[in-house]
Amino acid sequence: MKVSNSIKKNAGFVNKFLKKELKGNPKQLYDAASHLILHGGKRLRPFLVLKSCQMLGGRQSDAIAAASAVEMIHNFTLVHDDIMDNDEMRHGVPTTHKKFDMPLAILAGDVLYSKAYHTISSKSKLSSNYTTQLVSKLSKTCVEICEGQVGDIKFAENKRIPTGKEYIKMIEKKTAVLFEVSCAMGAICAKRKQKDVKNLSSFGKNLGIIFQITDDLLGIIGDSKITKKPVGNDIREGKKTLPIILAIRKAKGKNKKIILRVFGNSKASKQQIHLAVNVIRSLGVEEEVGNMILKYAQRAKKSLSSYTGTAKNEIISLLDFVIKRRL
Ligand code: IPE
Ligand code: IPE
Ligand code: MG
Ligand code: MG
Repeated sequence: MKVSNSIKKNAGFVNKFLKKELKGNPKQLYDAASHLILHGGKRLRPFLVLKSCQMLGGRQSDAIAAASAVEMIHNFTLVHDDIMDNDEMRHGVPTTHKKFDMPLAILAGDVLYSKAYHTISSKSKLSSNYTTQLVSKLSKTCVEICEGQVGDIKFAENKRIPTGKEYIKMIEKKTAVLFEVSCAMGAICAKRKQKDVKNLSSFGKNLGIIFQITDDLLGIIGDSKITKKPVGNDIREGKKTLPIILAIRKAKGKNKKIILRVFGNSKASKQQIHLAVNVIRSLGVEEEVGNMILKYAQRAKKSLSSYTGTAKNEIISLLDFVIKRRL
């Protein structure tokens, strides 16, 4: 089966579980909490929980609660992230605070956050020895995401252009840790030893780093018809993402001027952005980012070298899917 079909099949399974959990009164609160979930999302993280568990010989029925909980946490971060980023659209629809209102969106995030832990502790078929491990790992991860998000905000506030290393550190916390914990939770659901949890964590973290780097690359050179985001949005907004960091550090003279003229300039014209994107391309940024991705992909694959089987192949196909992602 093609990995995109396998992702869809798993998503159907997770969606059913999520829909049941995200019902209640007042209806408006639960409508707000399920708004983004109902309008899209790739469900990559629950896919990783389920497939990691399967790869290690565990049952899907033992992992579905954890998989759904991870997706709830992911959506909690999205709802609050859109508020913080002041973004108006996601999944082709208005963000939760735009569609509903600010207090309801904050509460929708809170519900998703709390329901995640409630789902693990009350809906999982595993014994409390395992659910305690799941809750402990997931809550620690949420603390790190918050730390990472503050790092992201600090990048934006600070005039200085961060180094590539600082960027990686920030995205590790903001994004990669949730991929890391998804794989680790899959291993816990399969009742496996620390060694396996460690291997899976390492795979997830490297995959998560690649995911954010790719996302940021798409923010510069992505096809707007596919990404549904205006071309060069990240440049206009002055986001200090890896391709921009590398471009500003590499560019000299006239080229540097062309980039800096549009960087953080909300009034930059389409033409000016187009010119800047071409300069960024000509500086070989895409190749440099590609080489970094390759390095993390090798590390990710190495972490899984002792495993075999269909689920492993699907996990590796997901890694390739993320690397080649165009949306
Ligand atoms: C979006 O993640 C947030 C980032 C970490 C960049 P996804 O692309 O996985 O979100 P979905 O698929 O819309 O849920
Ligand atoms: C998303 O980061 C990461 C989290 C939600 C924790 P971004 O702000 O860079 O991602 P998008 O562009 O909103 O999806
Ligand atoms: Mg955002
Ligand atoms: Mg953000």
